[in-house]
Order: sequence, then C-alpha cells, then structure tokens
Amino acid sequence: MTSVTTNNLIDGKQTAEDIKVEIAAEVATLKAEGKKVPHLAAILVGHDGGSETYVRNKVLACERVGFQSTLLRYEDDITETALLAKVAELNHDPEIDGFIVQLPLPAHINPEKVIEAIRPEKDVDGFHPMNIGRMVAGLPALLPATPSGIVELLSRQGIKTSGKHAVVIGRSNIVGTPVSILLAKNLDTANCTVTLCHSRTENLAEICRTADIVVAAIGRPEFVTADMVRPGAVVIDVGTTRVPDATKKSGYTLKGDVNFAEVAPLASAITPVPGGVGPMTIAMLLLNTLRAAKGEIYPKASA
Ligand code: GUN
Repeated sequence: MTSVTTNNLIDGKQTAEDIKVEIAAEVATLKAEGKKVPHLAAILVGHDGGSETYVRNKVLACERVGFQSTLLRYEDDITETALLAKVAELNHDPEIDGFIVQLPLPAHINPEKVIEAIRPEKDVDGFHPMNIGRMVAGLPALLPATPSGIVELLSRQGIKTSGKHAVVIGRSNIVGTPVSILLAKNLDTANCTVTLCHSRTENLAEICRTADIVVAAIGRPEFVTADMVRPGAVVIDVGTTRVPDATKKSGYTLKGDVNFAEVAPLASAITPVPGGVGPMTIAMLLLNTLRAAKGEIYPKASA
C-alpha cells in the first residue's frame, strides 16, 4: 500500500465482519431450534492462484458463521460432461443448500452452460439467468454477491445514493452489468442515475468526472487515475489483479482498478484493495446461502 494518509477509507472488512456476526446469530437460532445448519459447497477446477485464495476464504467464512462447507476439487482436464454431472449431483443432494462453481473455468468448458445447469434455488452466486432475470424484473432473487455487496457497503457506510450519478466501468456479467442494474433500482439503497462504461466508450475520462460514485470493475490495474475523478466522489474499486512483485514473499501485489495513491486524496470515500469489496462478496455469498437454506426466495420442495 502506498503512503497516502486517508481518513476516508471504506472498511469493507469490518462491514463484512458485522454481517457475519448477524449471520452467525441466525445460525445459532437455527441450531437452537434443532434445524439443519446451512451447507455451502464450492467446486474448484484447476490451480489458479486467485481462485484458490477466493475459495479458501469462502470455506473459512463458512466455518466462521457456523455453516457446513464442502470443497470439491478437480484437475483442469475434467471434461465439461463430468463437471455437469457433478453439478447435477449437487442439485439433487438435499444436504447442500447452495453451491458455487468458481470462475474462471478452463477454456474447454463453457461457463454459461455450467451456470445454466445449476438449479436457481441453489445458485448462491446469483449468476443463473433465472436469478438475473428476477433481479432485473424486481422480483425476489438470489442476487449476485459482488454487486449486492457494493450496494450493501454504500448503504451501511451511510453514503447517499438517491439521485446520484453512478458511473460503472466494466460490463461483465459478474459485476459491471448487474451492479448497474441494482444501483438504478427504485430502492432506498439505490435510486442512482447510472452510466455503464466499457472498452468502447468514447470520452471515458470525461464521463467519469461527472460521477458522484465511480465503480471500477474492468480488471485493469490502476486504470482509474486522478484526472478521471471529481473531487468529493465516492470510489468503489472492484479490481483484484495479481501483479508480479519480487519484494513480496508471495511474489505478487494485489492491485485494484484504481490508482489509489492518486485518487484517494481526492475522493470523499474510497474502498481499499484488499479489504474493500472482496470481503463483502464473501459476506453476501453467506447471506445468499442462509436465504437458500431458509427457502426465503424459492420455497423448499419439502417445506
Ligand atoms: N470469480 C470471480 N468472482 C467470482 C464469484 O463471485 N463467484 C464465482 N463463482 N467465481 C468468481
């Protein structure tokens, strides 16, 4: 981390911790009532360093709140057919309340096909077209974890969103597109005017400078520079790129999509990397798993 003095940091780690405490209390109640504790399963294919870390953190978070967790690991030569068969197994396993397939998958596996194979009621990543469609329509849905984590973070930090101009940079299915939809919803925690920018956007810097809230989700380290940010804007950094760094024991530094050293002194509030959006994603995944276990969105077949 660069030596910038900031009293405007948005502490995603602490906010996620608060949510986990709330979830743990609900799990304790379920246990006291003699009910089954929520059970999250994660499928991890291959050995991508970033994915290994994410999945490990997801499993640890389950333990932290009293969930059961199962990690299913496969080599990166698993066939698409075999992976789809594992998904079908989890779909039909009454012990498993929700599961995720960590992305990215090896090139020979079609991620859309895998996501569509997950039963929407167990899709705690909120990636299935049924959950995306219900979210767009304003129906109860399992919401994608990073976008809902961003909205929750803004809300719990007391950052006013109603009527504000949010500029989202990046149109991925996982973050950019869904967060632009959520921020525009007629909700107390949203109600933004949203501009979704991407690789073909003309005058990107100019558009960003009109933002009250910038959400950077392009996966390009330090892409957002000082000239792109209006003084006083709120800056949410979704990027987590591993950049080689020989001075680190791990051999890399985690870089966000925002040039923190330049932008932090300008912003009224900014999320750090790490410790900003990342922990919120995990907290919202746990919340989705709790909702799935309780049959809150889709009633349980046996309930
Ligand atoms: N890869 C990067 N972010 C995510 C996520 O939120 N869920 C899954 N399954 N894979 C990811």
